[in-house]
Amino acid sequence: MHACKHNRMEIASILCCYLLYQLALPKPIPGIPYNEVSVRGLLGDLPALARHVKDGGNFASYALSTVRALNSPLVQIFVRPFGKPNVLLADFGEARDLLLHRKEFDRSRVAGDLTKGFAHDHHIKLKTGEAWKSQRRLIQDLMTPNYLHNVAGPVVYQKARMLMDLWRIKAEIAGERPFEASDDVFRGALDGVMSFCFGERFRDTAMGPAIDALHELDRGAMELKHDGNPREPVKFHVPPLNAVLESIVTISETPLQVQGSPWPGLKWAFVLRNKRIAQAVEVKERYIHDELEAIVERLRASENDAEKSAVHHMVLRERALAEKEGRAPQYFSRVMIDEVFGFIFAGHETTSTTIGWGLKLLADNPHVSSKLRTVLRASFALAWSEARQPTMQEIARAHIPYLDATLEEIQRCGGTTPIIDREAVVDTQLLGQHIPKGTNVACLVMGPSMMEPGLVGEGTRTIHTDKGTKVKPWDPSNISSFDPERWIADKNGAEVFNPAAGPQLAFGLGARACYGKRLAYLQMRIFFSLLLWNFELLPCPPVLSDYSSGLVITNKPKHCYACLREVNSFK
Ligand code: HEM
Ligand SMILES: *[C@@H]1O[C@H](CO)[C@@H](O)[C@H](O)[C@H]1NC(C)=O
Repeated sequence: MHACKHNRMEIASILCCYLLYQLALPKPIPGIPYNEVSVRGLLGDLPALARHVKDGGNFASYALSTVRALNSPLVQIFVRPFGKPNVLLADFGEARDLLLHRKEFDRSRVAGDLTKGFAHDHHIKLKTGEAWKSQRRLIQDLMTPNYLHNVAGPVVYQKARMLMDLWRIKAEIAGERPFEASDDVFRGALDGVMSFCFGERFRDTAMGPAIDALHELDRGAMELKHDGNPREPVKFHVPPLNAVLESIVTISETPLQVQGSPWPGLKWAFVLRNKRIAQAVEVKERYIHDELEAIVERLRASENDAEKSAVHHMVLRERALAEKEGRAPQYFSRVMIDEVFGFIFAGHETTSTTIGWGLKLLADNPHVSSKLRTVLRASFALAWSEARQPTMQEIARAHIPYLDATLEEIQRCGGTTPIIDREAVVDTQLLGQHIPKGTNVACLVMGPSMMEPGLVGEGTRTIHTDKGTKVKPWDPSNISSFDPERWIADKNGAEVFNPAAGPQLAFGLGARACYGKRLAYLQMRIFFSLLLWNFELLPCPPVLSDYSSGLVITNKPKHCYACLREVNSFK
């Protein structure tokens, strides 16, 4: 009797375990292809993903390889044990419709999961609605041409000039040998976005110490370091950043630790217990608070409120909004601090990665760089004849289709943000397949129909809406080549830039597309104009010019070197 009862309990518990196991196995969405092996274990695609990463891949390249292997524009993978499948969408037409028109999809919770440890109340996590709209009011108008050209532009331009100064010295020392460029580009982009935020108050730059270090350099000792081998990169000392900038770098690396965790809240609590990270957050909080305070103080002291920086603009907005709503302004709220930090974390790594890709693409396509240089010389004819640098106003206001086209093509081929996530907020459909509420849909920016021929036949797309015009697909014969001409159209015999020439997802689309897009374009416009004005980009040795990448926060080139020859000595 006793033994029998024991036996029955054992059977029951085995049965129970078996049922739990069955329940915990990945549950595919019917009709959407997946890797067969992935549904046989609790870990789904994770073992295969781990192998892929070990071989030098990353999440985005795994997603792409799955789409290719299953030869389907809509697939599912299982990367969250006990969680829902992740749907991958690799088709521009369907993705465009989803992002632009379909209310059934909204900001995915992934964005909030990855940022809540250091910018808990930033609007990136909010679903599109009243709360999001009202928070965006704080940063409204910062991307208008007027603001960008007159307030942000001049300080951003000045930082780009510093980078050119730095590279003039490096080019002279390196003597046409390659040197590592990504740290310098990173410093330039960081200084650029910090200047956008804090205006002229931001003086303790990332570029300053890099330039100082070069002035102090013992050039004789340097010469010895590269063994005289002209293909060997010259190694320059990388000076440390100041405490504030270092804290930004430290914080920017944290999302990587949280990425893919099934319990992001717990994971953040763990990550923030790290002393170095906790300190970085504290330094960042204090800095932003002090900057806000300085501006509020100045505002109290004088009513002269000509806008001087993005943070200044936000303080004025908050004052005006509070007045309108009949409440006291909250200058130091979590929202204010997180929105300021939002510019920095969303703006520095993205811009510097894209500029890094641009540097490589232009060095490897000399016909493009020399055409662009010729076009720039014609456009800034006055600066050329006066043997000087083009000014900020000249660069910002000139109408140069080939420059616009080149920047657009760098965005397309760089693939800085290779995935754009959305979440189904109701049960819905994609490409004719059922998508349950709560499913994360990852739109692939670099895959079929973007950088390689598409997989979807006309007629299979959902296209619920007939809003907007259709975008013509890229010609499959040259879809993967770097060629700015694809963005150029002919209008009554004149070259014009056509931003709708074909598929592009670099900044996302729709209401939740990149907020900072115009600032990013301005920074790139200034950087590449000055770069080609001053230097010829020589090709780097093949070992330093491959296109492998690592997905850190953005999809960064593993090798980013510059081999520069000064083309003039204009001041
Ligand atoms: C080349 C540089 C940049 C790239 C490639 C880039 C890319 C992106 C992408 C792909 C998204 C998501 C779009 C979507 O979900 O549809 C995004 C969102 C966002 N970006 Fe950028 N970005 C860049 C620069 C910047 C800069 C300079 C800023 C700010 C100063 C910025 C601020 C933001 C913000 C606030 C969002 C969230 C918008 C929202 O949720 O409503 N970005 N960006
Ligand atoms: C791509 O190929 C097509 C057809 O040969 C051609 O018309 C088009 O100009 C090419 N585009 C680019 C960007 O080279």
